Amino acid sequence: MVRKQITVGHRSVSYLEAGSAPGDRPRGVLLLAHAFPLSAEMWRPQLEAAPHGWRVLAIDLPGFGGSTLPLAAPSLDEYAGAMIDLMDALHVGAAVIGGLSMGGYATFALLRHAPQYVSALVLADTRATADTPEARLNRQKMLELARRDGAAGVADEMLPKLLAPSTLPDQPALRDRIRALILECTPESLGFAITSMMNRPDSTGDLASIRCPTLILVGAEDALTPISDAEALQRQIAGAVLEIISDAGHLSSVEQPQRFNAALAKFLANQV
Ligand code: MLT
Repeated sequence: MVRKQITVGHRSVSYLEAGSAPGDRPRGVLLLAHAFPLSAEMWRPQLEAAPHGWRVLAIDLPGFGGSTLPLAAPSLDEYAGAMIDLMDALHVGAAVIGGLSMGGYATFALLRHAPQYVSALVLADTRATADTPEARLNRQKMLELARRDGAAGVADEMLPKLLAPSTLPDQPALRDRIRALILECTPESLGFAITSMMNRPDSTGDLASIRCPTLILVGAEDALTPISDAEALQRQIAGAVLEIISDAGHLSSVEQPQRFNAALAKFLANQV
């Protein structure tokens, strides 16, 4: 696995890459977009188990990891733009796009603007709907928390929601790793992400026009985007397959990587 960087205009996009050897023609490309408030690092278990012949890319969304914070107003479109810039720079015409939670919101933005980049979809622990008025109020509180207490305050608030109740006490190393990733975030990148999510449009109306193969994954104990959200996605995306990951909360790919990777590998095997 290697960390790489591209620069397009003012935008530097950092990403992790694993899988098919440089120079080989991959069977396909999988581009993964991470959750809030993490980075490409959360996809290590998927990069380390890249299915044979697949080129797996995990992007640091703008402001996270090694990617620069956009100069533009906060919008998920900036995240979709970075995904497009990365694919263009690597001459990837279309890829399987996988997003977990906020990464899923970014994937809906990409689908809205440039569906031609998407050959298949993996939507994990995410939802198509916009924030409810109550969720927007909570975002305002999170914005204040990020300004006042920085990443440490956000980590205290988010950790119990990200991991399943069974994972928190049982996997202290995992909890510490996620906490360390959150602590890398700056208040500015947290604010940009929170505002972008708070203002995101409802993507429900776009679901019926999705024509590509779609895998939906959700942790059985996901408290932030529960199984009902995943079922709603499955109902509205023609032919979508739903896999429920047992013993996992919101970060299903991190909490139960073997189960998550098995479902992903089965799906990818049908995409060539
Ligand atoms: C995430 O995991 O990306 C966020 O919790 C999503 C959200 O807050 O809506």
